[in-house]
Amino acid sequence: MYDNWEALKTDCMECRKCSLCETRTNLVFGVGSENSEVMFVGEGPGENEDLQGEPFVGRGGKLLDKYLEAIELDRRKNIYIANMVKCRPPKNRDPLPEEQDECIGWLREQTRLLRPKIIVCLGRISAQRLISKDFKVTKQHGEFVEKGGIFFMGTFHPAALLRNPNQKPDALEDFLALRKKILEICDHTYE
Ligand code: URA
Repeated sequence: MYDNWEALKTDCMECRKCSLCETRTNLVFGVGSENSEVMFVGEGPGENEDLQGEPFVGRGGKLLDKYLEAIELDRRKNIYIANMVKCRPPKNRDPLPEEQDECIGWLREQTRLLRPKIIVCLGRISAQRLISKDFKVTKQHGEFVEKGGIFFMGTFHPAALLRNPNQKPDALEDFLALRKKILEICDHTYE
């Protein structure tokens, strides 16, 4: 257990718990304010993220930033973004359950230090791990479920929205629902 971000990040950056460490350029720890009340969790780094060491910096990331901007959220100011796995799976395949098992401890520590009020799962991989094993994004997106004092919501992965632009209006609804929830339960996100 960690009581500060610096020690957590230093140890995480040296992680060799699974074989993804062998092919990474950079480990992608996370980005955002350590005072955030809202945390976003994606799947794992892709090529651009691996090269730059920051989550969601490719085409999907640009789209995510637009949705964030629509509800006055900003990855540098009032949210925190992390992934289920911190190193890029080869050829962008889904992270294996055993890779997620090895990596989830880092996410748990990030969550313990942040103590977010809301966690938004971006896509199936994080929603099925953090909300429910059989979570269906197309059916359950935008629904808030409280677990252990944290409100969880799953929505579309930005890469899925690039593939299926017809889902963009639903995604916007989810972000508007998120804004409403923030206004209800958060203290300083919109300060
Ligand atoms: N997809 C993810 O799930 N996370 C990233 O950081 C980039 C792409």
